[in-house]
Amino acid sequence: MTGAHDWSGAVGDVWAAEWQRTDRGFAAMTPHLDAAILAAAPVRGNAIDIGCGAGGTSLALARACPELTVTGVDLSPSLIDIARTRGADLPNLSFRVADITLGNALDDSADLLVSRHGVMFFDDPVAGLAAVRRVARPGAALIFSCFDSVTRNRFAADPLATATGQEPVPATSYAPGPFAFADPDFVAETLAAAGWADLHHQSVAFSYRVGAGPDPVADAVDFFTRIGPAAPLLRAAAPEARTAMIARLTDLVTRHLHDGVVDFPAAAWLWSARAAESVMT
Ligand SMILES: C[S@@+](CC[C@H](N)C(=O)[O-])C[C@H]1O[C@@H](n2cnc3c(N)ncnc32)[C@H](O)[C@@H]1O
Repeated sequence: MTGAHDWSGAVGDVWAAEWQRTDRGFAAMTPHLDAAILAAAPVRGNAIDIGCGAGGTSLALARACPELTVTGVDLSPSLIDIARTRGADLPNLSFRVADITLGNALDDSADLLVSRHGVMFFDDPVAGLAAVRRVARPGAALIFSCFDSVTRNRFAADPLATATGQEPVPATSYAPGPFAFADPDFVAETLAAAGWADLHHQSVAFSYRVGAGPDPVADAVDFFTRIGPAAPLLRAAAPEARTAMIARLTDLVTRHLHDGVVDFPAAAWLWSARAAESVMT
């Protein structure tokens, strides 16, 4: 479980330190999301990037749509610092440290809301997405990506299984975290209850890159010690157990080394919705 408190503190700080490697992980999925966003983007108006992190999606949108005013919103001050530096040359782009669920993240109503994997961390997903709905103009598009089940995301499942000796089992009830929106039926019900209509989703299978550069295996093992579900287990392990886990991780990663890079299978959902004309919640 990863909630607001984690993102505004230590988890956000790690993601800020690791933004280039997390961006790299999403690189094969991002063009699908960005294409869906551009297809829905108005020429001008306001767009908000929910849980913008280090700003990759905000930057791409602001560059592609210079007449659109883009605001990236995130809980983590460290991530917003990185995003501001990256976006400093774009006059139509700004960033804010805010909790999107509090509804005060934007001065004007949004004509477009987007998110790369930033909407499945709300304590109460209906209330969170209803708060997002309240900053949207009626008819505004919401386009976001989220992970499919952990079992289809081997970059997370395999290191976890390697660390614990057990294949992870998908959660049967909602808990905020990277795989909380894996079930499309749950997401559709949640969006509808939060005042979103015209719901569509599609699956995107992609390769999640965890290692590259001069020593891709070492890069991947180091990445897994910093980010993902195995990282806290490695940090908490006693020295001997940790050494054994790192050896098993190195074996795992080596099996995924091809053509100088380490990739794992991954799967995401791309969702689109429209703000319903009348708000139900
Ligand atoms: C998995 S990261 C994705 C970051 C970024 N969109 C990317 O693709 O690199 C999830 C992000 O959502 C942010 N987040 C989670 N809940 C939030 C909330 N209630 N309001 C604003 N940001 C939130 C976190 O701080 C975190 O940066």
